Amino acid sequence: MSSNSISSTTTLAEPLIRQRFGRPLTQGADETKATDLMLLHIEKVLDGATVAHMRTRLDGAEWTDGRETVGPLGAQVKRNQQLPEASPVRDELGREVLAACARHPVFHAATLPVKILPPRFNRYADDGHYGSHVDGAVMALADGNQLRSDIACTLFLAEPDGYDGGELVIEDTYGEHEVKLPAGDAIVYPASSLHRIEPVTRGARVAAFFWIQSLVRGQAQRRTLFQLDTAIRQLAVGGADASAVKQLTGVYHNLLREWADT
Ligand code: NI
Repeated sequence: MSSNSISSTTTLAEPLIRQRFGRPLTQGADETKATDLMLLHIEKVLDGATVAHMRTRLDGAEWTDGRETVGPLGAQVKRNQQLPEASPVRDELGREVLAACARHPVFHAATLPVKILPPRFNRYADDGHYGSHVDGAVMALADGNQLRSDIACTLFLAEPDGYDGGELVIEDTYGEHEVKLPAGDAIVYPASSLHRIEPVTRGARVAAFFWIQSLVRGQAQRRTLFQLDTAIRQLAVGGADASAVKQLTGVYHNLLREWADT
């Protein structure tokens, strides 16, 4: 658990994430009954000033065809632009994104990162889209190590009213979840899920995206730990019996010890 207190909320609230088929998503503590995915909206990873600064840098950057970072199957369905892998802007802003994520208590508690791929930045405009796909399972890191992509993260850098289309659609056994978040907010979801980006028919959708290898590989275990972490923090804030909180904290760490994969 992070030692920080909760400074923002996590929700699956309408209308930011809409379920297209099946049961409607419920909110708050019931979230996991509505989906078998750990699909989490993390609010205010970046503040407005930081988003504006990043957009100035990104809007003036040189973009390249997004097909350069995928294999032949991905290239068939991917139509967007990305910052080149060696772009200094990518490097600079990527570090800022990771620093903001590291400071965010909910992001840490929900993902339990052990390795993170340096963020990439993409831009969808003029009917740009990315057809249904599953992300690569193992990715190469610059230091020669590899990363197992347990979790995918998209950090939105364009306000939803600035573009039409561009929803991130994530499929699970309960149907499809359509995600379009305010600039500065992020969604984390299992990289193993089928997902796509709908065509952008007006304006531009700009985002950062990256993958995380979690200390806890299984999403069911990760979700249990996150729920326990969230409940313990709420109890602590609510002035619950200190020895009971301590006991539950011990349970959290013992489960993490059982499930951590370092
Ligand atoms: Ni993807």
